[in-house]
Amino acid sequence: MKIGIMGSGDIVSSMLMLFEKLNSYECKALFCRPASIARGKKLAEQYQIASLYTDMDEFLSDTSFDTVYIAVINNYHYDYAKKALLKGKHVICEKPFTAAYEQALELYQLANEKNCLLYELSRSVLTDNYKIIQENLPRLGKIHLVSTSLCHYSRRYEEYLKGNVMPVFDPKCNGGALYDFGIYCLHFIVGLFHEPAAVSYHSQKGYNGVDLSGVLTLTYEDLIANIVLSKNTNAPSYFTIQGENGYLHSNSSVMFPGEVKLKLNNQEEEIIAFDSKEKIMSEWIHLEQIFRDKDKKACDKYMKDTLACIQIINEALKEEHYEN
Ligand SMILES: NC(=O)c1ccc[n+]([C@@H]2O[C@H](COP(=O)([O-])OP(=O)(O)OC[C@H]3O[C@@H](n4cnc5c(N)ncnc54)[C@H](OP(=O)(O)O)[C@@H]3O)[C@@H](O)[C@H]2O)c1
Repeated sequence: MKIGIMGSGDIVSSMLMLFEKLNSYECKALFCRPASIARGKKLAEQYQIASLYTDMDEFLSDTSFDTVYIAVINNYHYDYAKKALLKGKHVICEKPFTAAYEQALELYQLANEKNCLLYELSRSVLTDNYKIIQENLPRLGKIHLVSTSLCHYSRRYEEYLKGNVMPVFDPKCNGGALYDFGIYCLHFIVGLFHEPAAVSYHSQKGYNGVDLSGVLTLTYEDLIANIVLSKNTNAPSYFTIQGENGYLHSNSSVMFPGEVKLKLNNQEEEIIAFDSKEKIMSEWIHLEQIFRDKDKKACDKYMKDTLACIQIINEALKEEHYEN
């Protein structure tokens, strides 16, 4: 698959390394801002990327690739994706797709008009282990409780405390725990249980109003999902899904579901999904197939979940209760 990458930051370095391992992705061109040209050049040399651009129009007019991977700070996703779609490129966009539901809807409609594929990376929903979890849910009987925790002390937090606010801690750049980690948890839950009836978010805010940590609750007719998020504390990740017949539990993160144990009432515990070093690749492997097959139906399904997740975040931030 021939792609062009927009951005030259941390995640781009990691993904170029991954593409090298996968062999099915070929990065033909890289776009970065003039301010990042040194970084762009280094990446282009290291990964033998044929063309490096600092002019977005020129980059998007390059016909050596038909799909762009957008990996810039959150508040530029909408603008970059819109420009790429207008030029008829398929788009794979980093999470969180957009800040606002209306922006996401507009991009989705534009992709339909232009007959382009559009996908937000969520890490989990295309993985093999996620599929196993989905297939095993009916064994749990009526499901009433879901809990998950995704807490990681950010390496950028100390800088934040010194007053140096990086985009990930800047509400103006759609930073904060909910946009950054919440989106992973939401994709995991919405993909399994669809949209909730109600949403509430209690957060602890930093000096610039950004949510540093918090608890998001999704309420369904017979189910409550509790999501614990943090960017300024560390704790083991986990997820548990509880039904009347039993539960499934994993000490892995919803981002990359690893080993998953299932225990039915009065039965022995069984391992239904195994950990694997390859799980980080899983989404990209499946995505390559979807884009190669031009499987619009599959993209539409995931895009509908993306729309639901963004709507939940918008709702949660609107209704937010926070502690000083
Ligand atoms: N790092 C991770 O582990 C990770 C994991 C999953 C998802 N993501 C997502 O990937 C995206 C990028 O994250 P990152 O960690 O790679 O961030 P990063 O290292 O800070 O790089 C961010 C990129 O955003 C662009 N950028 C920075 N400031 C900008 C500004 N003022 N105006 C326009 N563009 C600006 C830069 O593009 P140029 O190169 O053009 O200057 C830079 O390459 C985010 O949406 C994040 O949620 C990151």
